[in-house]
Amino acid sequence: MKDLETLRKEIDQLDQEIVKYYEKRMEAVLQVMEFKRQKRLPIFHGGREKQVLNRVVESLENKDFAQETRLLYSEIMRISRKRQSQELFPFHIALVGFMGTGKSTISASLSEMLEMEWIDLDDKIERNMGITIKQIFEKYGEDGFRRIETEALKEAIEENHKIISCGGGIPLKEENREILKKGSKVVLLQASSTSIYQRLKDDDTRPLLKDNMTLQYIENLLRQREESYIKVSDLVVSTDEKEVNDISMEIIDKLLGR
Ligand code: S3P
Repeated sequence: MKDLETLRKEIDQLDQEIVKYYEKRMEAVLQVMEFKRQKRLPIFHGGREKQVLNRVVESLENKDFAQETRLLYSEIMRISRKRQSQELFPFHIALVGFMGTGKSTISASLSEMLEMEWIDLDDKIERNMGITIKQIFEKYGEDGFRRIETEALKEAIEENHKIISCGGGIPLKEENREILKKGSKVVLLQASSTSIYQRLKDDDTRPLLKDNMTLQYIENLLRQREESYIKVSDLVVSTDEKEVNDISMEIIDKLLGR
């Protein structure tokens, strides 16, 4: 058996080789991204990641390391996705829209696809205050909630490169619209009043709809809010009758100006 010093030297040399190739790989990844951007090809492609994983595991001489190699490569690809999205979208992506238009679902999907952290403002408020949105409305009224909401938005915008999922009332205040406009690209999610009603009718977490859960009420509120929603948004995407994955791809394409 080789002695400890010799083995350590061997490992150091191998690490240098690994880093050299890793650097080359990263450069190639960024070139591929640039190529896709210019040719307007889809940037994030789950199928390709699976292929890479299978290929590297197949190429192993010692299959005992299959599990670790899978882990290592999943991480490498996660890091690549993160780096690509930092290059492509050097700003926050804020999702706005009426309750029930899919902001949280789409934020989760975008967050995975782009490897960007996701801040849900309502969750953040509940964590900061230690009580639910419903209880905040009961204790401080809607005006109180709106003040707390603006503070949470200010905190979120101070962070770097995040997906920010905004409560449905955020775009109503001019102050909030200005904060959003300065620090992020704003995506408006739209859905018909009928699908919103269908999605929310059994939900009792939204104080504004608690005693007003009717299609008519939703239609009116939507109409009142529409102008503020449009004013703040850089792009608009409908979520009706579409798959989550397709909506995220559509947002990415539109953010790339396609
Ligand atoms: C509100 C929307 C809710 C929450 C609060 C008020 C609104 O968030 O912030 O109940 O005024 O539209 P979601 O849009 O995430 O449901």
